[in-house]
Amino acid sequence: MSGIIIYKSKYGSTKKYAEWLAEATGFDCVELSNFSAKDLGKYDIVVYGGGIYASGIAGISFIKKNYAVLSGKKTIVFCCGASAFDQKWFDSLRELNMKDELAKIPLYYCRGGCDLENMKFADRTLCKMLIKSLSKKDPKDMEVWETALVEAGQKKSDWTDRANLEPVIRECQTA
Ligand SMILES: Cc1cc2nc3c(=O)[nH]c(=O)nc-3n(C[C@H](O)[C@H](O)[C@H](O)COP(=O)(O)O)c2cc1C
Repeated sequence: MSGIIIYKSKYGSTKKYAEWLAEATGFDCVELSNFSAKDLGKYDIVVYGGGIYASGIAGISFIKKNYAVLSGKKTIVFCCGASAFDQKWFDSLRELNMKDELAKIPLYYCRGGCDLENMKFADRTLCKMLIKSLSKKDPKDMEVWETALVEAGQKKSDWTDRANLEPVIRECQTA
């Protein structure tokens, strides 16, 4: 079975997981911007990974656009965010990003990182504004992504861990 991992990563966490997954599976691995959908025909298994930005999986439109080709293959999606895993949060993320025919595609979560100091100016400004607004909120009432953001505002956070990929690797192996 031939496979490819296609990813979109702004700050490197999704890229790190994509490369770890390539090591574990032997699949090809490529950044979305360097991949041509014409090449999908060469593969039996397609894994797509994208960072989460404002609850959206970066680049997920690639899967939507190419669904006709992908429906004849094993397709797997993983996403990478700052939030700690929480089932309710993950279910709403899935509902938001994996609509209609995409609902059949397995989706996995691998926790990434957050480093305000190394963010692009616009992202850092937005995160700092959000952190400021959250200072008035009781921590026990915060959403999981809000808790992660507040934590990241205090120190550079890296939650990446190869173990998070185990279910994705198993899904690739059962294809
Ligand atoms: C502007 C902005 C919005 C974000 N929104 C979310 C979010 O909605 N949920 C989440 O879990 N993480 C969110 N994050 C954190 C990123 O998903 C996290 O840093 C992830 O590791 C990014 O993956 P990448 O490094 O592959 O781009 C956000 C980060 C930024 C800068």
